Amino acid sequence: MKRIYCSVLVAVALCSCQQLSQKAGEVETRSAKDIVIENMMNRRSIRSYKPEQIKDEELNEIIRCAINAPSAINKQSWEVRVVQKTEIFQAVSERLYGAPTVIVVASDQNNPYSPVDCGLLGQNILLSAEAMNIGTCVIASVVPFLNSPEGKDVVAQLNLPEGYAPLFTIAVGYKNEQPEAKPRIAEKVQIIK
Ligand SMILES: Cc1cc2nc3c(=O)[nH]c(=O)nc-3n(C[C@H](O)[C@H](O)[C@H](O)COP(=O)(O)O)c2cc1C
Repeated sequence: MKRIYCSVLVAVALCSCQQLSQKAGEVETRSAKDIVIENMMNRRSIRSYKPEQIKDEELNEIIRCAINAPSAINKQSWEVRVVQKTEIFQAVSERLYGAPTVIVVASDQNNPYSPVDCGLLGQNILLSAEAMNIGTCVIASVVPFLNSPEGKDVVAQLNLPEGYAPLFTIAVGYKNEQPEAKPRIAEKVQIIK
């Protein structure tokens, strides 16, 4: 009886996962595994965005996934600022590809694992956005500006606690391009048995 109950639960969970990416009237034939892997493999850095802002429900879902990332001793050693008042970043707007939303991820300068925690949180942002067909691009090239004396006024508006500094930003918005995948170096992985 217990086994039947568990099987039904698993089947219901799989069906609801499959429905997530289904368009109206389309029958989803991919397995839950295929959906997750395709999402990961289809994500690309997007460098051209539509001006339309993403919906608040989509942003909330992205943030919910972001903070569900693992972190060393669950310290959640990140600070996240979602900036939709993009004039804040006027000085570096070209580098942010005109994205209507910019997420700043700041790390704890006194926690050696913070860059790892922040990176994992960042990947959850990229993949949850991709699952909703929302484009993203990690942009670190603005960080030297943010952490320089010239960027001080910009960072002041982010209301970061003492000891935190921007580590990277993520441009977020509806995609205005479909770039090809860049090559990967499979030889960098060795399986030692
Ligand atoms: C830490 C980090 C910093 C990055 N900084 C920038 C950047 O400043 N500008 C940019 O256009 N892309 C940036 N990228 C995106 C990479 O160029 C991109 O992920 C890589 O070329 C692979 O392409 P893909 O994301 O489409 O698979 C950054 C990515 C990472 C992980």
